[in-house]
Amino acid sequence: AQAASALQEERKKPVYQNDEYTDLDWDNLGFGLNPADYMYVMKCSKDGEFTKGELSPYGNIQLSPSAGVLNYGQAIYEGTKAYRKENGKLLLFRPDQNAIRMKLGAERMLMPCPSVDQFVDAVKQTALANKRWVPPSGKGSLYIRPLLIGSGPILGLGPAPEYTFIIYASPVGNYFKEGIAALNLYVEEEYVRAAPGGAGGVKSITNYAPVLKALSKAKSLGFSDVLYLDSVKKKYLEEASSCNVFVVKGRTISTPATNGTILEGITRKSVMEIASDHGYKVVEKAVPVDELMDADEVFCTGTAVVVAPVGTITYQDKRVEYKTGDESVCQKLRSVLVGIQTGMTEDNKGWVTHI
Ligand code: COI
Repeated sequence: AQAASALQEERKKPVYQNDEYTDLDWDNLGFGLNPADYMYVMKCSKDGEFTKGELSPYGNIQLSPSAGVLNYGQAIYEGTKAYRKENGKLLLFRPDQNAIRMKLGAERMLMPCPSVDQFVDAVKQTALANKRWVPPSGKGSLYIRPLLIGSGPILGLGPAPEYTFIIYASPVGNYFKEGIAALNLYVEEEYVRAAPGGAGGVKSITNYAPVLKALSKAKSLGFSDVLYLDSVKKKYLEEASSCNVFVVKGRTISTPATNGTILEGITRKSVMEIASDHGYKVVEKAVPVDELMDADEVFCTGTAVVVAPVGTITYQDKRVEYKTGDESVCQKLRSVLVGIQTGMTEDNKGWVTHI
């Protein structure tokens, strides 16, 4: 009887508690750091060539106190995700697009950069080496964070003499503490995120610490994030601290045009393509903040955020509510995107890489 009941207990265990998986509470993944076993490191030689990288156990790295990244913020990063299909196989979503974006960012920040092939190969190796950390199908993803840093020492302002490309990974669930519930945002009028001619359009690390003040103010007031306005007229929407923004009115979906101050999100452009495939008119333009006042829906997109519905936006003394839920445009686009990303729906776009 004891053996039978032990067997019964064994059968009750979720299928993912075995050697295939590391021991984590897969049902409650947020966006906290749970570093996966291995990181990938590739150094750039003095002549600007990246030589063969390798995997090593995740851990601290050594840097000179005078490293360019620490003193002058010379670094860019990427974010991409690996998903586990129901059959256990892993999928990557458009890693080549991250590689291309890193190259553009590296040019802006005067850094050498791994080739697209080197980048994609390194992402694949990192995902496969950390397979135990890729959540079970439907429970989240392995967030993969490639970093390119000016690691060499320098005193006067200038490009660092050496560069390091690093990738680490962590399993994640929903980005916002709201889970998939609608976000409450407000329009930030004091702080701006980026200015024309600056580096707002690339994933420079220098775009992120300066938004913390606005973000913490927003959180202390009970909002999830803020929407930034253009720095010149304070009249047009830019993006949130961690994601792009879309405004829906009827069958038209507008999003701020990328003019150098807005991050060219890979989820942003994937959602634009999905929306126009589904018959929506997709417009990239300078979106006046006033259009928020009579929009049907607003939603945010990003690798970390995926596609997140916005329930309310507060602008000056007005609070506007938007449609959310199963029948929303946001939900429709989200489910098509997530279907492709997770291998649940057929990918007829060539976005998914099986590894
Ligand atoms: C991402 O969506 O991958 C990002 O890089 C945003 C970051 C603030 C988590």
